[in-house]
Order: sequence, then C-alpha cells, then structure tokens
Amino acid sequence: MKRLAQGARHRVELTVNGVKRVGYAEPRMLLSDFLRQELGATGVHVGCEHGVCGACTVRIEGIAQRSCLSLAVGVEGQAVQTVEGLAGGEGGLSDLQLAFRRYHALQCGFCTPGILVSVSEFLERFPEPTEQQVREMLSGHLCRCTGYTPIVLAISSVAAERRKQSSRA
Ligand code: FES
Ligand code: FES
Repeated sequence: MKRLAQGARHRVELTVNGVKRVGYAEPRMLLSDFLRQELGATGVHVGCEHGVCGACTVRIEGIAQRSCLSLAVGVEGQAVQTVEGLAGGEGGLSDLQLAFRRYHALQCGFCTPGILVSVSEFLERFPEPTEQQVREMLSGHLCRCTGYTPIVLAISSVAAERRKQSSRA
C-alpha cells in the first residue's frame, strides 16, 4: 500500500451520486468529513463519529457503510452514493422518501439520511422483508424521536408497493 505523508493534503477522486468529484484530504480525514466539507454533501450527517449511530451511512460500491469508519483516501476511485443521490427523477422525492413523509417517519430528521441510504440497499437484498427483518436492519440506526414504528411502516409500505408494481409489469 502507498505510504501517504501525514499533514499533507492528497487529491481524492470519487464518483459521488454518479458524478466524478475531486477534493483534497489529509490521510486521517474521515470519509464523512470529506463528503461534507470538501464535496458539500451535507446530507451525510455526523453524530457519534465512531460507528454507532448510523447517521453517516452512505453506499460505497453499493454497500451501505458508516462513512465515519472509512478514511477518504481509502476510498479513492470508488463510487459513493449519499442521500442526495436517492431522489427520484428531476430531483423529486423517491418512493421511499415519500413514504417517510406520508408515515411521519421522521421528526428532527437527523437520523433520516443514514436510514434512507441503508433501506435503499436493504430493500434490494430483501424485497419482501418481514417486520422482524426491518427492525433488525433498523437496529443499526439510532433514532431519538420516532420510536421506530412509523419508520417500520414506511419501509414495509414501500416494499409492498414495489412488489405490487413488479407483479403488474
Ligand atoms: S457518525 Fe458514523 S455511525 Fe455515528
Ligand atoms: S427523527 Fe430525530 S433522531 Fe430520528
């Protein structure tokens, strides 16, 4: 592995939400800070900064991961998706985001971007999740406001609606 000089800023190129982006990071800079401070992706929220709360979750090469547990220089050249990349066509809200609004699945909204990103991956892997599976997935995210039930309802409703649509296709 290439040794990087501490203190120096290094060029880091990522594909963020489908667009090539370049910024500069010291070797110790967290991916979460890089996305927010260098690339302006402030939908990436930072809570605990040690992998517990899930607020900073992004998809790296399609896999939902805590961005506070990766170094920016460590993901050089990779594809990252943040909550900003989840919107539907022409900047409208996705079905998932609309369901969160419909079911009041957010209050302060601090946890919401990370949850939305995790759910986007989760529903690809589990298109027909049980409530237990949804709750297990949510156990990786701290929400201090909602009590989780509206979030479970929103996710389950999206899964059901997508199943209905794909059975019609
Ligand atoms: S800020 Fe990354 S898990 Fe809490
Ligand atoms: S909506 Fe406030 S922490 Fe989840």
